[in-house]
Amino acid sequence: MGVAGATSGDSASNGGQAAAANNPYLAHLQPAASSGFGGVYGKSHPFHGLIPGKTTVEQQLAIEAGGINGFTGQPYSDKYREILKKRQELPVQKQRGNFLKLVHENQFVVLVGETGSGKTTQIPQFLLFDELPQLKGKMIACTQPRRVAAMSVAQRVADELDVKLSEEVGYSIRFEDCTSKSTVLKYMTDGMLLREAMTDPTLERYSAIILDEAHERTLSTDILMGLIKEVAAKRPDLKVIVMSATLDAEKFQRYFNDAPLLTVPGRTFPVEVFYTPEPERDYVEAAIKTALQIHMSEPEGDVLLFLTGEEEIEDACRKIRAQGDRLIQQGACGPLKVIPLYSTLPPHMQQRIFEQAPAPRTEGGPPGRKIVVSTNIAETSLTIDGIVYVIDPGFAKQNVYNPRVRVESLLVSPISKAAAQQRAGRAGRTRPGKCFRLYTEKAFVKELQEQTYPEILRCNLSVVVLQLKKIGIDDLVHFDFMDPPAPETLMRALELLNYLGALDDEGELTEFGAKMSEFPLDPQLAKMLMDSPKFKCSQEILSVAAMLSVPNVFMRPREAQRQADAAKANFAHIDGDHLTLLNVYHAYRAQNCSSDWCWDNFLNHRSLKAADNVREQLRRIMERTGIELTSTPFDSPSYYTNIRKALVSGFFMQVAHVERNGHYLTVKDNQVVLLHPSTVLDRKPEWVLYNEFVLTSKNYIRTITEVRAEWLLDIAPQYYDLSTFPSCEAKRVLERILTQRKFRDEHDSDKKKDKREKKEKKRRRTDKSVISSETSSKMVRLNMSKV
Ligand SMILES: Nc1ncnc2c1ncn2[C@@H]1O[C@H](COP(=O)(O)OP(=O)(O)OP(=O)(O)O)[C@@H](O)[C@H]1O
Ligand SMILES: [Mg+2]
Repeated sequence: MGVAGATSGDSASNGGQAAAANNPYLAHLQPAASSGFGGVYGKSHPFHGLIPGKTTVEQQLAIEAGGINGFTGQPYSDKYREILKKRQELPVQKQRGNFLKLVHENQFVVLVGETGSGKTTQIPQFLLFDELPQLKGKMIACTQPRRVAAMSVAQRVADELDVKLSEEVGYSIRFEDCTSKSTVLKYMTDGMLLREAMTDPTLERYSAIILDEAHERTLSTDILMGLIKEVAAKRPDLKVIVMSATLDAEKFQRYFNDAPLLTVPGRTFPVEVFYTPEPERDYVEAAIKTALQIHMSEPEGDVLLFLTGEEEIEDACRKIRAQGDRLIQQGACGPLKVIPLYSTLPPHMQQRIFEQAPAPRTEGGPPGRKIVVSTNIAETSLTIDGIVYVIDPGFAKQNVYNPRVRVESLLVSPISKAAAQQRAGRAGRTRPGKCFRLYTEKAFVKELQEQTYPEILRCNLSVVVLQLKKIGIDDLVHFDFMDPPAPETLMRALELLNYLGALDDEGELTEFGAKMSEFPLDPQLAKMLMDSPKFKCSQEILSVAAMLSVPNVFMRPREAQRQADAAKANFAHIDGDHLTLLNVYHAYRAQNCSSDWCWDNFLNHRSLKAADNVREQLRRIMERTGIELTSTPFDSPSYYTNIRKALVSGFFMQVAHVERNGHYLTVKDNQVVLLHPSTVLDRKPEWVLYNEFVLTSKNYIRTITEVRAEWLLDIAPQYYDLSTFPSCEAKRVLERILTQRKFRDEHDSDKKKDKREKKEKKRRRTDKSVISSETSSKMVRLNMSKV
């Protein structure tokens, strides 16, 4: 379906007009073309009379209450009318007039409204009918910090506008673009918008940008804010709305050139908050207990429980199911459906949270209930229909970066007050709710900080620095960050990019770096891909990069750990985990991507399917950027060696050396690390390259492959310049290798010299010709340089 009826219509809308000629329902589409001037709708079009940037509340309400959908030309469905009634009750509706007035008069607007008041779903629609971006061939973007929110909100708004998802309303997340030519309202992760800015630095394709959940201060949101501020100065036509439920509004207003503030009072339904009288010793146990208590004693309504990470969540789900089953057998309560949610779960599994609660087992029996156990990805934006109870233990995993030792990790830390408020806001969306905080009220007031600490102050910035350089922002020190990152963190990012060849010694983006930024990957992965043709293995490295970009493919259910380990052992490669992943991918393809085969081998089919998809997308980027796709013949002895060398060319900064005492130390930073128990390596190679640093109670390195010191010295001489190394065993080993090499080279060249001289003498004897000493020494020099 196109933007039918607009005079500026594309081919799709022209198609719509042609169809209109024979269809009385579409009659309203026709006059548009005859209206004579661009950007205005014909008389019988539902949008007739709207002037971009000047619409009124009455006009907008009339369109919504009309009979025909202005986007599709179809009569509105019953479902549309049903949803419309609920939408009309939302608190933001009362502010529609004020909102329109503010956007008409200002370029920036800051909007703060309580959770559930209708910001994410309604404001973009108010703006859509006001901006009419379709007339200018543009779109409205609404950013979300998380993929799951972008996807689910887009679906909801598509329903609210009575259009098909991906047509007028779509979403875009990394490796998945669910939009089309007719998309006018696009929900997207903030990271995706930032990526788009690299090819469209003034964000030309958007007439308005809504930065939602700005309080989360994700890295991408912070960078976008700075960028959009610059773009807006050049594009007075661009409207920018910054929204959140829990925002330090003044700070945002000041940052956006003293933007006006619109506050939306009132929540749709009340949420009652309970605290524990005493601090809980074990928050996971307490959370499980609370969930089951709710199930036994509270009236109907689903539960959302916040925990910190995959393992904890899967474990809690298992316990809730087991204990729940016992209660159900005793007849104490109704059936339970327990659903995990975390970011590494594939999108389709994430969608399970929207499933209905199970029905009671007998009519009139105790109600069935859904319990969603989630990380903080369900904290903002999401409306999960049916959630009435929220359990908030007060913790989340947060990214922490230590630039001194270049280690980025997720650590369990207390959440902020703003986050607690967001969590409570997930209850009471579709009816009154309750929030159980598993900490004391005193702790809430005294111990939780007001706002979440911005991510830019606690993460590795290399991807972002590369993106900013690509966009053309060279002076990072004077870039207008809301909170500037620590200089050391910036330096580390510049240093990494310099070692990878993305920035030159002056900090300028190189041609190589510009290409690197095209890949939606960490710079190390991109470098590995781009260098792989040198090692004749880009096809294989493409598969490895794809496998590293998806959630873990190995399943290890607690009740079948031994079988799962045995299944994994079938794929194990003697040199380590990267090649094991490659074996898995090859086997998966050889089995025609069979899901049964995956199941039998304890492999996650969805992850492998995702890897296949990611590989295809990366392959296209390789083709576009002219990177050769090649392979070493499988029977060649260098097949695997070449792949390992290509790994080194990207990850030479992530290498550890085993010390005499059996500990591994990371090179240069000298951090003590252990090989993660998931590795297939059953020995301790002297040098290992790792994909990831995992900080729990101990430091682990995960996804590991054995490499050779010689490769490090040859492939990354700039990094393995031993004069920059701290004194350590690794340095001494490398020095020894270099000394041996020097000795060997000298020895070799001496031998060669002897040989040459002998040959020369022989020739002279036979030729009896005379060669000047000068020529002879030149020959030696030339030959030497070839050696
Ligand atoms: N998928 C859905 N199913 C049912 N109702 C929904 C759905 N999505 C939204 N709603 C309704 O619309 C209301 C507004 O949702 P919206 O996401 O716009 O709120 P919000 O102000 O952005 O909240 P938050 O600050 O939590 O992001 C919800 O409270 C809920 O009543
Ligand atoms: Mg929202």
